[in-house]
Amino acid sequence: MDDSRETIGRRAFVTGFPVKHSRSPIIHGYWLKSLSLDGSYRAHEVAPDDFPAFIQSLKSGASDFVGGNVTIPHKEMAFKLADEPDDLSQELGASNTLWLEDGKLKATNTDGRGFTANLDERHPGWDKVRSAVILGAGGASRAVIQAVRDRGIREIHLVNRTVARAVELADRFGEAVHPHPMAALSEVMKGAGLFINTTSLGMEGEIAPDIDFSPLQPDAVVTDIVYVPLKTPILAQAEMQGFATVDGLGMLLHQAVPGFEKWFGKRPVVDGTLRAMIIADM
Ligand code: ATR
Repeated sequence: MDDSRETIGRRAFVTGFPVKHSRSPIIHGYWLKSLSLDGSYRAHEVAPDDFPAFIQSLKSGASDFVGGNVTIPHKEMAFKLADEPDDLSQELGASNTLWLEDGKLKATNTDGRGFTANLDERHPGWDKVRSAVILGAGGASRAVIQAVRDRGIREIHLVNRTVARAVELADRFGEAVHPHPMAALSEVMKGAGLFINTTSLGMEGEIAPDIDFSPLQPDAVVTDIVYVPLKTPILAQAEMQGFATVDGLGMLLHQAVPGFEKWFGKRPVVDGTLRAMIIADM
């Protein structure tokens, strides 16, 4: 990071524990430079025990930060400690974007918007399907379910290894979301037009699953929120079986847009150069 930039302009952060693998400094650094803005964005590691004090220093203005991103494991705590979490954060019980406004620490969650913006860009019309299958019932799944439901997909099949987690999550969303065990995967894929992996299955170093996508509609799209590797085993299998695929890198890039706009006042663009920079860093 260029230290000279930290002395001028607005300062924003990404905090997590650990945080050194975060790609967010590359993303925001690229936008600051391409928009010729005098701001800075840097990784700021905060241990869970120190997180409340960090938030307090933000609220009091002692930290000089105008806001920032929050990643694992602080998203739930960020939501709880913010002065004004928005409706989206409240529904998800987690926030990933913080900013100071009118003397208050405000919070939102941009994961769902990142997910839909990526699909809108890469596969327009993805939401014109009768049913969708979502694999995984963790925190990431929750944001994706909400985003997909809010786009009007009324039949969402939530499949998870631990079925109790799927049941619990589905209950939060009402009748549109149906929970299932893994054994039901093939059955619920019948006629679905969208398949979303939100689990770490196939992530670098994890076991690759073996999925038969043929029950999906022939024009279905398969997407993965994992982006390392870019072409996950799930996407590679779907592609080999003739399905359209969308990788998860765009979700990471698009979820960063609202925060940048809040902190630095300009709406940045997700372009091919940025995508290539992140890929080169993998
Ligand atoms: P995140 O917040 O990133 O979604 P998480 O809350 O730990 O992370 O959720 C991880 C998801 O990946 C869960 O749905 C998990 O399934 P369980 O609820 O059964 O744990 C799923 N997952 C992780 N490893 C898996 C594996 N080897 N097989 C099947 N599902 C797996």
